[in-house]
Amino acid sequence: MDLVVVSNRVARAKANEPMTGGLAAALLPVVEKSGAIWVGSSGRVRDNVSKDSFAKIESLGAGALALLDLPAAHYGGYYEGFANSALWPALHSRTDLISVSQDNYQCYREVNAFMARALMRFNKPSAAFWIQDYHFLTLGAEMRELGIRNPLGFFLHTPWPARRVIAGIPHHRDLVESMLAYDLIGFQTEDDCENFATYLRAELGLEVNGGSVSSRFGTSRIAVFPIGIDVDGFAAHAQRAASHPDVSRLRKSLHGERLAIGVDRVDYSKGLVNRISAFDRLFEIQPSLKRSVSLLQIATPSRGGIEAYSNLQDELSKQVTEVNGRHGEVDWTPIRYLNKGFSQTVLAGFYRAAQVGVVTPLHDGMNLVAKEYVAAQNPIDPGVLVLSKFAGAANELDTALLVNPHDIDGMARTIATALSMPSTERRMRWEAMMAKLRAGTIHNWFAGFIEALETAHLAVGPSLLPPVVRPLRVAGGSSSVSDRRMRDPAHFAPRPVAN
Ligand code: F6P
Repeated sequence: MDLVVVSNRVARAKANEPMTGGLAAALLPVVEKSGAIWVGSSGRVRDNVSKDSFAKIESLGAGALALLDLPAAHYGGYYEGFANSALWPALHSRTDLISVSQDNYQCYREVNAFMARALMRFNKPSAAFWIQDYHFLTLGAEMRELGIRNPLGFFLHTPWPARRVIAGIPHHRDLVESMLAYDLIGFQTEDDCENFATYLRAELGLEVNGGSVSSRFGTSRIAVFPIGIDVDGFAAHAQRAASHPDVSRLRKSLHGERLAIGVDRVDYSKGLVNRISAFDRLFEIQPSLKRSVSLLQIATPSRGGIEAYSNLQDELSKQVTEVNGRHGEVDWTPIRYLNKGFSQTVLAGFYRAAQVGVVTPLHDGMNLVAKEYVAAQNPIDPGVLVLSKFAGAANELDTALLVNPHDIDGMARTIATALSMPSTERRMRWEAMMAKLRAGTIHNWFAGFIEALETAHLAVGPSLLPPVVRPLRVAGGSSSVSDRRMRDPAHFAPRPVAN
């Protein structure tokens, strides 16, 4: 099988450069080893795109990285518009933030159709395609329409919400019906998979039996594949990082003070405001902790062209200033707040220097920072993970200190508990988490999905049916995001992001 992996964002960085996102960073080590072709956005847009607008095809480990310039006229409506102002809030159950327009949906469909045409270049009898994430829900249907009968898999990195939440998107039926063109649809957790099955039954009137669902495309499988990390690789980064200048500077700056760490994209799903409030509360209820612990919060700017994100960025800056102003001293800053990204190696070193990892999203598909924090710890003296029960990672990392991120007092008390936890308990909890991480590495995830895709394809999958009738297309229109901003190269510059 010749594997073609497709995602919007790809990782080009190496361990010593700032990384580019949870999905991209996670896939890099496995795609490199697998010999797959990894197709994604080049980060640039063009006015006159043809299906051959591959900016670059470069080697990547045993395989290749194929970077595609996307159509300028549709990019803004696709990325900032439908993907990140309609789908992202819906998938994270933030119906209050859903902003949807027919134009943006049209742009989303156009970019999916464009990607399908571009992928024809890699179509051969032995090819299998594995599509990643919510940017490409309808790509499989477009590929089937072009006559591709090869195995098509899809994995959703975000949560899949309750059926009434996704139904808040006017195009929900069109989207989910298109998803059934995939032979295999993978989710992070049982809850996500069950929500999807419930949607299929209740909204589309389909039967789901033992993870199989039949539609006009044929039969698709739905299943759970919790994504993991390269545990040993990350632990090795953490050890090596001890001598990195950034890590040494951090350690030297502590003067015996203990450190809690948070690493996130600036995103409303990450619960950053609640986390800062919990530290504010911590210093109120336990003033003795002042000067003896601080939070290093790395908050990487993300999707700044979207109002909800720029508002959050402003809110956080104000909140951090207030908390530091209230509790800080001339020689002590309670919250060290950084708006930039760091390489995987440096992050691994930071994680190891921190006695507490705080990963408290309001809702998260998995959250790989939680797994990375655990893998980076010193086995003799591991730190404590404080983890939101609403992160997918909480299903596996159940010996972390689990918190409700809406309960500020509860989080403050749990952080205090983490800081005073005896080393025997820390080791016990950490070993249990490491056992889970080793049982579900990124390598197992990758191999498990590919094996399941082959099996699903051999069953009566969509690939074995005759070409389908073109799905209903929406009316034309241009993006609601201004063309000027869409063409600004700075707007598309690769940005270092966390999870
Ligand atoms: O699943 C969501 C996700 O793809 C993450 O894996 C990743 O960190 C994030 O979204 C990246 O978002 P963007 O590409 O918009 O920066």
